Amino acid sequence: MKGLILSGGKGTRMRPITHTAAKQLLPVANKPILFYGIEALISAGINDIGIIISPETGNDIKECVGDGSRWKIKITYILQDEPLGLAHAVKTARPFLGDDTFVMYLGDNLIKDGVGPLVKRFQEGGADAFLLLKEVPNPSSFGVALLDAEGRILKLEEKPKQPKSNLALVGVYLFHNKIHAAIDAIKPSARGELEITDAIQKMIEMGNRVDSHILQSWWLDTGKKDDMLEANRVVLDEMSDASIEGDVDNSSKISGRVSIGKGSELKNCTIRGPVVIGQDCKLEGTYIGPFTSIGDGAKVSFAEIEYCILRENCQILDFHGRIEDSLIGLNVELTRSHNKPIAYRLMLGDDSKVEVV
Ligand code: G1P
Repeated sequence: MKGLILSGGKGTRMRPITHTAAKQLLPVANKPILFYGIEALISAGINDIGIIISPETGNDIKECVGDGSRWKIKITYILQDEPLGLAHAVKTARPFLGDDTFVMYLGDNLIKDGVGPLVKRFQEGGADAFLLLKEVPNPSSFGVALLDAEGRILKLEEKPKQPKSNLALVGVYLFHNKIHAAIDAIKPSARGELEITDAIQKMIEMGNRVDSHILQSWWLDTGKKDDMLEANRVVLDEMSDASIEGDVDNSSKISGRVSIGKGSELKNCTIRGPVVIGQDCKLEGTYIGPFTSIGDGAKVSFAEIEYCILRENCQILDFHGRIEDSLIGLNVELTRSHNKPIAYRLMLGDDSKVEVV
């Protein structure tokens, strides 16, 4: 069985952050979102993975992920010239997929449970496709499934105005090679894309069996800033391997689960976990509150930071203020010239420079 991870697209909903970075490379608990998907497939026993990339962000993805040797697996990059839909991505990947069964995984989705049990059920169960579903409050934003009593899919619709259920398609799909004939038989949707939802509906109409599993644990679609912060919260909340490798002086107070990477130095700081601080960071006179991730090489002094993602090498110096619910891009420099207490909510793209006066 092969894996196919979709990591193309332009990430318009995450601008300005994604003007300069692929959304799948944004970090959750200091690890790129895409790595969670790769590791989920590996733990299901899949070691031959294709990654769909776009012309805009493909090189960054290749550079960050590499050839798979860090996980001892094989990774093949497949260029999708234009974002013409998930089924179009499968079509583009056909030479890589051959006639194998495969798991398709959307690279900007995070799910708590791995896909191992699903792969086993699919391999043993005799279905032609197997979909992961989740009850959601806003089904119109997703592909929506209508099931029979045994969990077989009767009908699928992409972002219906009047959804027939509250079961959304989560970004994990398992396919027999019969999906290719169904993709060849569909036409682009109103949004001009070859929809995987339509292809699976076509499979059903062609007499194939499509089974499903309803996910009980969390699933996060990391499309927007608040989704990213929520994903960071959930992953940090479950973090079990906290370790302090950097230097923490005696006047600093650390409580809860806190990870501090090699080469980082903390002076007179208060850190309340769950928090992850990367390598070579310098923090002074600073409070870091729960559910915050700080990327490698960041420098923060005289600030309060809570429920935030700070990316690598950002600098928040002599700030004398509080930053919360914020996503701060690579190399951002944030300074402030007076010390009236104030709180900020920010989404700052890579290389931004902000001076609050
Ligand atoms: C895609 C699928 C949709 C699915 C969703 C999950 O939507 O078309 O069926 O529910 O991913 O994240 P998109 O993110 O392309 O709008």
